[in-house]
Amino acid sequence: MSKDLSTAQLTAIADEFGTPVYVYHLEKIASQYRKLTEAFSGQNVIIFYACKALTNINILRYVKSLGANVDCSSINEVKLASHAGFEPSKILYTSNGIAFDEIEEAQHLGVHINIDSLSNLEKFGKKFGHSYPVGVRLRPDILAGGNLKISTGHDKSKFGIPVGDVQKIIDCANKYHLFIRGLHIHTGSEIKDVDVFVKGIKKLFEIIPLFKELEFVDLGGGFKVPYKEGDSETDIPLLAQKVKESFSNFSYQSKKPLQIWFEPGKYLVSSAGYFITKVNVLKESGTTVFAGVNSGFNHLIRPMFYDAYHQIENLSNESGAKKPYTVVGNICETDTFATDRHISEIRENDYLVFYNAGAYGFEMSSNFNSRLKPAEVMVKDGKAILIRRRDNFEDLLRNQVTL
Ligand code: LLP
Repeated sequence: MSKDLSTAQLTAIADEFGTPVYVYHLEKIASQYRKLTEAFSGQNVIIFYACKALTNINILRYVKSLGANVDCSSINEVKLASHAGFEPSKILYTSNGIAFDEIEEAQHLGVHINIDSLSNLEKFGKKFGHSYPVGVRLRPDILAGGNLKISTGHDKSKFGIPVGDVQKIIDCANKYHLFIRGLHIHTGSEIKDVDVFVKGIKKLFEIIPLFKELEFVDLGGGFKVPYKEGDSETDIPLLAQKVKESFSNFSYQSKKPLQIWFEPGKYLVSSAGYFITKVNVLKESGTTVFAGVNSGFNHLIRPMFYDAYHQIENLSNESGAKKPYTVVGNICETDTFATDRHISEIRENDYLVFYNAGAYGFEMSSNFNSRLKPAEVMVKDGKAILIRRRDNFEDLLRNQVTL
């Protein structure tokens, strides 16, 4: 778990920009990126930042400045990446369950496309034949990931074309002279065991020889990050070593050497993010003490949706005696962030910080209960800069048609 920004820095940001507020520490994103590039140096590896984790345009620009490519999961993410200055050749669109129009739009923009259904592959073949290279997303039938909701490669998952249907992919490719340039798998999020990736590689090795023009294999994202004190992240140097070993024993005859692509989201931005809230009310009920903050699952849904654990600390009373608190939100739902969590004594108006909030935090926020989305601030070279203003009341009415 990373606490690179001090209590004093976070408190100053909360005082200046108000709460609730998301804070992103750019140097932390850089150090996570460096860990990947250093571990894989000398290998033919390309890193695509899975921007669904956090799409603020300033973060996209910063990730670009580090040298990363970007992986998108919707056409609007593709457009945001393009707006942030990524060249089409640096943008990957890994589609899932989308209408063919979006694929056509992505093709028009000239970005890499991974197609995840036979139906869209067929349409793509009919329309573009061999003229536009394409990747295919496979479902590897591997069960992995932190929990079932974020497990995407198992045999009941909606994602990808079942690996058992590879002959259908080949038939489609032959029929339309498709240029299948890459094979993609993504087994899930929060995968600590590097052997899951090795298993995926082995599955791919069984079918790669069936394809004649492959230029990349895309192993997806999903590296684990430590949410709890004492937890550890995916051992990236070990992963790099195992990937290297696996590929050194494999030969594939093609015009270009096979590239290996990865699409990390959480690994790059989770630990760089902090979410600061303020305590509105304290309420006692039997042995439970509720600390009600000015937020809810409208701002950070991970604890409620995935039972995810986020470390919570009291920025305003660090040295206070630790007591059990049930931290809840202010929306009309059971929006419990943590139950009986030991936190330094909480008073009303104290600031509570949630760590590891950079990935899928703001990005999954909503205006439920007509509450306003929080502000976003980035910290670069020790300076805090507003990168998204807090919603205001007009934002709630913006797209409504008042008759
Ligand atoms: N590539 C593909 C095709 C994906 O579907 C995903 C995540 C990633 C890459 C990046 O995975 P990451 O490195 O961030 O684990 N909202 C959930 C996570 C869902 C991830 C969905 N796909 C959470 O907050 O835990």
